[in-house]
Amino acid sequence: MLAHADRVFAAPQPAPRSDVEIYQMWEIFKAVNARVKAGGQVVNLLVGEPTLPPPQAAIAAAQLALSSGRQLGYTEALGMPALREGIATLYRRRHGLAIPASRIALTIGTSSGFMLAFLACFSAGDTVAVVEPSYPAYRGTLKALDLIPHRVGTDAATRFQVTPQMIEALPSHVKGIVVASPANPTGTMLSAAELQAVYEACRRRGLWLIVDELYHGVTYDRPADTVLAAGDEAIVINGFSKYWGMTGWRLGWLVLPERLVPRIEALHGSLQISAPTLSQLAGIAALDSDAELQARVLAYQRNRDALLTALPRFGITRFAPPDGAFYLYADIGDFSDDSVAFCKRMLEETGVVTAPGVDFDTRDGHRFIRFSFCMDASVVDEAIRRLEPWFKSLNRR
Ligand SMILES: Cc1ncc(COP(=O)(O)O)c(C=O)c1O
Repeated sequence: MLAHADRVFAAPQPAPRSDVEIYQMWEIFKAVNARVKAGGQVVNLLVGEPTLPPPQAAIAAAQLALSSGRQLGYTEALGMPALREGIATLYRRRHGLAIPASRIALTIGTSSGFMLAFLACFSAGDTVAVVEPSYPAYRGTLKALDLIPHRVGTDAATRFQVTPQMIEALPSHVKGIVVASPANPTGTMLSAAELQAVYEACRRRGLWLIVDELYHGVTYDRPADTVLAAGDEAIVINGFSKYWGMTGWRLGWLVLPERLVPRIEALHGSLQISAPTLSQLAGIAALDSDAELQARVLAYQRNRDALLTALPRFGITRFAPPDGAFYLYADIGDFSDDSVAFCKRMLEETGVVTAPGVDFDTRDGHRFIRFSFCMDASVVDEAIRRLEPWFKSLNRR
């Protein structure tokens, strides 16, 4: 027998679960960077990141905390009591709901909220339904945790949202479902009655229901309803990235059924200790900034309306008008069957950049693109000015 030291072992390989998809959006991003480097102009409708700074009160609170010289050490794993209370008050103010602060856990953006919720609800190898089109990191996070995403395809007929019938039709081995309202990339929302029906369908089927409500606050013709009004069993994911424009502050929260709270507390303590303390202090102050932030939502609404009027002039007629978020998901199937090539060509020929649908929908995304409209009105107007003649010059398939 060979002595241990003489044996040749194969080189260690990356784990299969780390083989998560790389977004095609990064391919487009590279093309954007190359264009900028070559001195070209880019009219950017690609990213979903508000361009304005956080609310003034949040910046002032962070400045005060820094200049006080205080330690800014870890917080409790579930987060600062004052911020958890503040978020409970937000639910009272927005929805008239009495959510106890004890059910709220602060996380490192919603991204960590997803990871913690998936870990608390599912075991390795479980299958979890994901409504598509949707934010691609749901699939990536599930895959990284050795969970299997099950595609629930939707289209314009249900405004790209799930129905109770789709939940009833899920295979019996599915353990939960991820839903978003308002959703990325479509901006469409589920009404209170629809959320109630989805909640009840999940209860009947014994499924965990995880609802991404990150775009609450960024809504147009009516405010967003929360699934929390339907009952205490759903898991809500939310955070400061979008309405409050605090993407890089990495602050989110979970609202949990009571029995998950100790699990999340233990998981967060082990995996991440706590959400960033400076951001939590800023978050407390940010909660009282509605007047400042509502003006931004009106600016997004103006951009949405400009796009809604322009798209039919482009020859794009199949889309669901967004109720919220700052995205419009458009069917460009009359022009192309390859959304990545289409976005690259659009960038090359007009300087306008949008996101290809393939990142959001693993089956039908090849014939959709996403317009983001959280940027200044002048950017959206310039994009429309360039795109109108361009679309008119294209051959229809
Ligand atoms: C629907 C949705 N959920 C979650 C996220 C992640 O956001 P964060 O981790 O900054 O809270 C995004 C980011 O774009 C998103 O669009």
